[in-house]
Amino acid sequence: MLAGPGSAAADTEHQEPEPDCSVEQCVALTFDDGPDEYTDELLDTLNAHGAAATFYLLGSKVEDHTATVERMADEGHEVGNHTWDHPELPTLSVEEIQEQMERTDEAIAEVTGEAPETMRPPYGELDETVRQTVDHPMLLWDVDTLDWQSLDPEAVTDVAVEETAEGSVVLFHDVHETTVEAMPYVLKELDKQGFTFVTVEQLFDGQELEPGTAHDHARPDGGPEYGDGTELEETPQPGDGSELQDTPEPGGDDGLDGQPQPEVDPGFR
Ligand code: NI
Repeated sequence: MLAGPGSAAADTEHQEPEPDCSVEQCVALTFDDGPDEYTDELLDTLNAHGAAATFYLLGSKVEDHTATVERMADEGHEVGNHTWDHPELPTLSVEEIQEQMERTDEAIAEVTGEAPETMRPPYGELDETVRQTVDHPMLLWDVDTLDWQSLDPEAVTDVAVEETAEGSVVLFHDVHETTVEAMPYVLKELDKQGFTFVTVEQLFDGQELEPGTAHDHARPDGGPEYGDGTELEETPQPGDGSELQDTPEPGGDDGLDGQPQPEVDPGFR
């Protein structure tokens, strides 16, 4: 497209077409507990690969890293709420949960201009009170790289490369230098497998994620079974008996003929 030198800068911001996850093999890489000292290096790496990601931030750390948070938003990443200071939400009162959420939303909105759309509960811990109190969809994960445990770039890369499937939500922590060191390899290997790196919102595009609902992936194959390496059955595992209400097909077209519809887990773990 020809754009004169005088044309509005806003026009050039949107040259990249939105990924279409009904056609592309999308995955969402997610990074928790930042922003921190290695986050800018991670942003450089993501940039170099044209990869979008989602950052679940601790509100208490935003003020010390405003330039980094600004970069996240400017460079097309999703900024999510990971509470103010990482408590186990089920141990808190309703008021305390609300405060954890609101303070973090405000700290992020002050920098990016927008409150987060999604949140991730610390440790993936939630109960009925948390569900009813948190006013965002709750995003868990189906691939846990255990990066905080191994602190080994090679191990992080191995888990990410072996376990990631179309529709996966992959959990990392950008507070660890070893995780950030692993990312060029993770991106390169997953790129070879044909994956497109999108934000959580893009991964679930077309599906309304309701506040208080928990989601761990958007995998057309129904997700991992017992993690023992056995083949997945054709039929996606239904949830725990609860029916999903009218989940629209991503993209709203019939490009998924013959494939099971991506499942959104109604349950939590
Ligand atoms: Ni965390």
